[in-house]
Amino acid sequence: MSNSIALHTSPLGRVTLEPPDGYPIEKVFDRYGRHIHYLRISLTDACNLRCVYCMPEHMTFRPRHELMSDEELLYLVRVGASLGVNKIRLTGGEPTIRPNVVELVRAIAAVPGIEDLAMTTNAILLDKLAQPLAEAGLRRVNISIDTLNPEKFNRITRWGKFDDMWRGIRAAEAAGMTPLKLNCVVVRHFNDDDIVDLARLTLENDWEMRFIEMMPFGGVSDFQQENVVPFREMRRRVEAAFGPLEEVSYDYVDPSRPFRIPGAMGTLGFISSVTEPFCQGCGRVRLTADGKLRLCLLRDDEVDLLTPLRAGASFDEIRALMRDGAYHKPWGHSLSEGKFAHNRVMNQIGG
Ligand code: GTP
Ligand code: 5AD
Ligand code: SF4
Repeated sequence: MSNSIALHTSPLGRVTLEPPDGYPIEKVFDRYGRHIHYLRISLTDACNLRCVYCMPEHMTFRPRHELMSDEELLYLVRVGASLGVNKIRLTGGEPTIRPNVVELVRAIAAVPGIEDLAMTTNAILLDKLAQPLAEAGLRRVNISIDTLNPEKFNRITRWGKFDDMWRGIRAAEAAGMTPLKLNCVVVRHFNDDDIVDLARLTLENDWEMRFIEMMPFGGVSDFQQENVVPFREMRRRVEAAFGPLEEVSYDYVDPSRPFRIPGAMGTLGFISSVTEPFCQGCGRVRLTADGKLRLCLLRDDEVDLLTPLRAGASFDEIRALMRDGAYHKPWGHSLSEGKFAHNRVMNQIGG
């Protein structure tokens, strides 16, 4: 069976990169036996918000020509699919501000082998985009929501309006992008006392509300390290309000450890990257908006794919670079020893 995509008929305009036909799909395992099949692609490093845990207020973003074009991105998706990537998550910065995002989603969803296409977004633009994105093939969205207090929301995001985000959540539900997962990065003195109100959302909504330990990166790491709230403390706060949480069974592959408030419709999840790492089950690699294969969120190791692609490397050569990079994925991070990545901040990686 041919597993090529008809890029020349894509609505994306003139296409110069033509992937070859008929590649057998290969499974890739890293040195530690982890199956690498989940690719997170950052569509842009730019964002329409400035969350305090993510980036400084005054940021310079990469010029357009340093970012992958739609055609280059699709070509690399095609290479990934030939290596067994079956799950793709689009991230940012904020992925919805990338021009042409709906057509890009449509083209990625059409790549044979891609079974699950999702996005992590701040939802500010979802009111208008959720329906077209769902129709284009986006199955699910994970949405950032750090508080239910509009004034605090504005303080954490620096620029955001709570109502825009809330309309975005409702639009995603209406468009059928479920199960809906909500992400809250917990920051001491900003939103640590909002956990209980956010957890309460699951009583009457079939959502997974996830609380994330803040991770340190490059230039903003002092703030992040000083204000992290450990998983155990988050859990204590929720249990003080609702009583003991029920454990929900899970596969130890998902970063989020699930629980339920007894009787609730939805679930709670805790992503404890700092105090209880989950690297042993990690099958993720990342593609940054400037075309580097990033092997671990919290380490600087990257393989440049865009430069060789632009220099005329063949499909097989790019495929070998990707395969070799994935094989050399580092075991995990060393946050407990105070070591973290320095070459990028979160908006340049995409979470
Ligand atoms: P699904 O499981 O497909 O729903 O997505 P996800 O949970 O992998 O995606 P999402 O972008 O919502 O990730 C939520 C948060 O989990 C991110 O913001 C990170 O804080 C954390 N996270 C995701 N992947 C990794 C990873 O590889 N390592 C670490 N340490 N944290 C991660
Ligand atoms: N630590 C943990 N998660 C973070 N995110 C952004 N910055 C950090 C950080 N320092 C999360 C956002 C969003 C995703 C893209 O990354 O909440 O869900
Ligand atoms: Fe933008 Fe997401 Fe970073 Fe907030 S966390 S500034 S929404 S990229």
